[in-house]
Amino acid sequence: MKEFDKTIMVTGGAGFIGSHLVRLFVNKYPNYKIVNVDNLTYAGNLANLKDVEDMPNYEFVKADIVKDDEMQQLFGSFKFDGVIHLAAESHVDRSIASPNEFIYTNIVGTANLLNAAKFHWKDEPEGKIFYHVSTDEVYGSLGETGFFVEETSYDPRSPYSASKASSDHLVRAYFHTFNLPVKISNCSNNYGSYQFPEKLLPLFIHNIKNNKPLPVYGKGENIRDWLWVVDHVRAIDEIYHRGKVGETYNIGGHNEWTNIDLIKLMCSIMDRKLGRDTGTSEKLITYVKDRAGHDLRYAIDSSKLQNELGWTPSVQFEEGLEKTIDWYLENIDWLENVTSGDYKKYYEEQYVDR
Ligand code: NAD
Ligand code: DAU
Repeated sequence: MKEFDKTIMVTGGAGFIGSHLVRLFVNKYPNYKIVNVDNLTYAGNLANLKDVEDMPNYEFVKADIVKDDEMQQLFGSFKFDGVIHLAAESHVDRSIASPNEFIYTNIVGTANLLNAAKFHWKDEPEGKIFYHVSTDEVYGSLGETGFFVEETSYDPRSPYSASKASSDHLVRAYFHTFNLPVKISNCSNNYGSYQFPEKLLPLFIHNIKNNKPLPVYGKGENIRDWLWVVDHVRAIDEIYHRGKVGETYNIGGHNEWTNIDLIKLMCSIMDRKLGRDTGTSEKLITYVKDRAGHDLRYAIDSSKLQNELGWTPSVQFEEGLEKTIDWYLENIDWLENVTSGDYKKYYEEQYVDR
């Protein structure tokens, strides 16, 4: 008798969103075996999964999606029923400094997983799902109005978004050409616990706490649509189980903020939490050279997901932001651990001449 009803491979499960997804699935589906496949780059951290690491339906495998033979072997030994693919190089600034890693991991890595699924599922495709987690950045940059819908033409403008767009195209090509049962979602900016402090929110929380300058790119007028990470993984759960094969779903919070307004809000919350006089943290704001090719605005229309699957965000932004700041302040050890060693070198290279 099979011990578990399904065995699901989650790639990138030691990262920010992946660790929240693993936590949700391991707890919610004791009848599923969740195999977290991650090669633990600078962004992968098993400390993100301390609370689930001893669960009987969880297993971690250190493997690199860029290595075709490793992926073929894993499919052969675990007989996966599904894949939820999150492993990626995910930071736009790093893709500007070093595009090739993005091309290998995001494009070649995705192709390797598609090939392994195609080969191992060819005799029994029934009930299998290859779920590819993607980003709204594939659609490019919006002007002051309008929203990204699932039919919006792709127009990626950074090496990161171009590599994600390329992987999305490959996933769709395997659906049309080989009938591989795929699903794709494209989500807006996530925030929450366990995010690596190279991204805006945890970086600025860390700098405010340590009285370091807050490097705002350009004039801070760029707009992002923020979604609580737990709401993203709730959406992935819905789409994985009830979304249509071959379809794409946009996920977003209808929650647009200019960077500068968001940063000022964070500063005022942090002043209160750290017992500083109002306005103290705002003085750390430093305008620096803009990001090359900086997309002006992202905004997602998630009505397809809301209408077809009934998903809506569960947390108001102000509440989510407070919770997120509390988490980083209460988990200073986590922040200090990930900002030691190589992080310092990255930070100097990224910000020294800005
Ligand atoms: P992250 O950088 O925090 O985590 C990426 C994970 O992938 C890490 O654990 C890393 O070790 C692993 N990984 C990288 N290269 C690998 C390789 N070659 N083999 C195996 N594992 C590898 O990323 P994140 O922010 O959690 O994003 C996860 C996914 O969601 C990505 O595909 C990203 O494009 C997408 N996404 C992110 C956001 C966001 O706001 N962060 C929004 C929409 C979509
Ligand atoms: O939209 C989804 C995407 O959101 C994901 O696909 C990416 O993986 C994720 O990294 C994120 O991309 P962004 O580039 O939007 O996120 P980031 O946190 O790097 O930056 C958010 C905004 O803040 C952006 O306009 C750039 C600006 N910024 C960022 C940093 C790190 C600054 O002004 N200063 C900074 O130091």
